[in-house]
Amino acid sequence: MHDIQNIVILTGAGISAESGLETFRAADGLWASHRIEDVCTPEALARDRALVHRFYDARRAQLDAVSPNAAHHALARLDADWPGDLLIVTQNVDDLHERAGGARLVHMHGALRSAWCLACDGRSEWHGPMGAAQAGDWPPCPACGARALRPDIVFFGEMPYQMERIEAALARADLFVSIGTSGAVYPAAGFVRVAAAHGARTLELNLEPSAGSGLFDDSRFGPATELVPTWVAEMTGRV
Ligand code: APR
Repeated sequence: MHDIQNIVILTGAGISAESGLETFRAADGLWASHRIEDVCTPEALARDRALVHRFYDARRAQLDAVSPNAAHHALARLDADWPGDLLIVTQNVDDLHERAGGARLVHMHGALRSAWCLACDGRSEWHGPMGAAQAGDWPPCPACGARALRPDIVFFGEMPYQMERIEAALARADLFVSIGTSGAVYPAAGFVRVAAAHGARTLELNLEPSAGSGLFDDSRFGPATELVPTWVAEMTGRV
C-alpha cells in the first residue's frame, strides 16, 4: 500500500445517493423524469430558459435539505491526511464534498451553487432560484448586473472543466479510484483507461457492476457509506 503516493478519485451521483439526492440512470432517477435534451443542452437553454432554470432551481433547493454522508466525510479525512498528491474529481454538481471538507476538489461538470453570466462570462456563488420570479424578471449578475445568468453546469456537448489539470493528475496517479458512477458518460468514463495506461492501479467502489467494471484491477460492490470509509481506513491505516 505504501508504494502509492499520488491518488485520483472520481466520484459520481452514487456517492450522494445515501444523502438523499437522486442519481441519473436509476429506474427512478433524474433522467427517468426529465429528458436530457429538454434541460441539459445549450439548445434547451436557448429554446426554453425558464424550464432549464426550473430544473436546476429545484435541484439547488434540495441541497439545503441534505447533508454529506459517511463517504463524503471519509474522503475529506483522506484529503486532509494524505501526504502525497490527491485529487477528487467529481462529476456531481452538489456541494456535499465541500461541506464535508474536501479541499483538493474539481467539479468537472460544474456546480449548482455557481452562476455563469453570459454577458461578462463571470462566475458567482449562487444560492436560491436563478429563474425569473415573474415573466422576464431575470435576476441580475452580481458582477455586471446583466440579466443573462445560466446555471454553471456543463451541459451535454460542452467541454468539462479543468480537463488539463485532471489529465495531468491521471498521468501521475499511482492509484485511481472510481466511486458511485455508472461509467456512462465520457470523458469521465475513460479516466480509468488513462490512469491504467500510465501504470496506476485502479479500484471501483460502486453499488453494483457498472459499464466500466471490467476495466478495473479491483471492484467492490456495496453502498458507498460502507465501502468508502473501509477503503480510507485501509489507506490511512486508521479506523
Ligand atoms: N453507493 C454506491 N454507488 C451507488 C449508490 C450507493 N448508495 N447508489 C447508486 N450507486 C451507483 C449506481 O449503481 C450507478 O452505477 O451510482 C451510479 C450512478 O450512475 P448515474 O446515475 O449514471 O450517475 P453518474 O455516473 O454520476 O452520471 C454521470 O451523467 O447525466 C450525466 O452529468 C451527469 O454527472 C452525470 C454523468
